[in-house]
Amino acid sequence: MKKCCSLLAIIFLSVHCTKSKVPVPIAPFSPAPSNCQLADSISYIQTISPILNANCNSCHQYPGAGSISLDSYSNTRIFAQSGQLVQAIIHDPNYVIMPPPPHKELDSCEIKAIKLWVLQGCQDN
Ligand code: HEC
Repeated sequence: MKKCCSLLAIIFLSVHCTKSKVPVPIAPFSPAPSNCQLADSISYIQTISPILNANCNSCHQYPGAGSISLDSYSNTRIFAQSGQLVQAIIHDPNYVIMPPPPHKELDSCEIKAIKLWVLQGCQDN
């Protein structure tokens, strides 16, 4: 009987522990470079594509890690519009952190550029 109860306790505790949300620390993002100057209208070609090529496309070139490719406008737009692109780079705990540690996270200027580009409707410019 005792054995059975401690077994139940162990099962309960392990289920409980895997389900409880471990708070994810806010990532220590690199400070925005003082020269973070973004155009009013963020350009995919001039701004977004170079950030993705430098930081993401070693893994996300078609077909891409996790079937996510960020190497063309049309592929990138899919994940931008789904919300995954921004949520992954701002380290939303419901998404996989991107780039995965120990890779260097984007700096806040790059994150701002991507957020703005998405907010502006993912322009193909
Ligand atoms: C070292 C390889 C690597 C790098 C670099 C990388 N990723 Fe990923 N990424 C992955 C893998 C692997 C997955 C799939 C993870 C999974 O499904 O558990 C993934 C998943 C994702 C997802 C889906 C996340 C979700 O929870 O839905 C997005 C969006 C993403 N990556 C964007 C990016 C962006 C943007 C960058 C660059 C800033 C980047 N990744 C850099 C390997 C990488």
